[in-house]
Amino acid sequence: MKRIAVMTSGGDAPGMNAAIRAVVRTAMEQDLEVYGIRQAYSGLLNGDFEQLTSMEVSGILQRGGTILQTARCEEFKTELGQKKGLRRLNEKGIDALVVIGGNGSLTGALKLHELGVPVIGIPGSIDNDIYGTDMSIGVDSALNIILDALDRLRDTATSHQRAFLIETMGRNCGYLALMGAILGGAEIVVTPEKPKTEEEVAAALEDAYLRGKTHAIAVIAEGAPVRTTDYMDYLSKHKTVGFEVRLTILGHIQRGGSPSAFDRLLATRMGVHAIKMLLDGKTGVMTAQQGRKMEAIPIEEAVSQLRPLSESYFDMQHFLSR
Ligand code: ADP
Ligand code: F6P
Repeated sequence: MKRIAVMTSGGDAPGMNAAIRAVVRTAMEQDLEVYGIRQAYSGLLNGDFEQLTSMEVSGILQRGGTILQTARCEEFKTELGQKKGLRRLNEKGIDALVVIGGNGSLTGALKLHELGVPVIGIPGSIDNDIYGTDMSIGVDSALNIILDALDRLRDTATSHQRAFLIETMGRNCGYLALMGAILGGAEIVVTPEKPKTEEEVAAALEDAYLRGKTHAIAVIAEGAPVRTTDYMDYLSKHKTVGFEVRLTILGHIQRGGSPSAFDRLLATRMGVHAIKMLLDGKTGVMTAQQGRKMEAIPIEEAVSQLRPLSESYFDMQHFLSR
């Protein structure tokens, strides 16, 4: 093995740059050449490669986003697109590929592995929906942003004696909402895994009012079956909760900013581990943090299901909100 490539794909996540840096510097230590593929699978298909040396990854450890940029590419979902990708890798003399991204990106990596390309995946997504790893790169930073927002919103909620509906990201996974609710002290949480009706949300907010609380907070995952705006419409119409209600959608603010210490460490360990696995002759595997260990699990297993949420966290959220 002489020359490898690295890309970031799907939604950007704080810590992706730290992972790129670790991949490049670990590979260079082993006398490998590293190429960065700009804009994920789109860049792969367009042949948008640049050589990365130690200098190109200097000063990026603390930066949010991704210096390689990212993209979503429909063409790569097709068999023809994947073959074109293989052709581009061959044209550039790339012997192996590291893909940093979420479930979709890792599925793309699996397709290349199935075409015979040595591939290592690194889980990078704020959603924490990737099966087989305790945490993905970016989750901790996003959660800290959510907690900061919740704390601020509680200040203003308390001052005005209001209730807030706060929508978090997470696609089809409620991890960010659930953890945000537990650690931010919310009254109720709604996730795709445990949906709640408009009446249930109203009742939880009303209960806080009746018990004499000065505020009430509902955290709602974007992937929940009832839209946050529908809860808001219901509460505006029925006015049963006692509090005036406001809605805040946190949106893409959750994806930006400098990675936390946890994410820098996770990204660095995963980047180093990815190169070690390649040199050990592994392919089609993803770096996975399991307890204190860094493991490798088949990408096929990682993308075959969503990471489940622990029932005990839902219980904890419920009784601690009382
Ligand atoms: P994430 O990686 O954050 O889950 P997406 O689901 O949007 O984000 O996937 C990112 C990209 O990965 C897609 O735009 C596409 O290029 C590629 N991808 C997703 N699913 C597949 C698939 N089934 N086969 C091949 N490539 C895929
Ligand atoms: O996967 C990360 C994520 O931020 C999800 O939480 C969200 O559903 C999605 O990406 C948003 O995608 P986009 O940036 O294309 O709006």
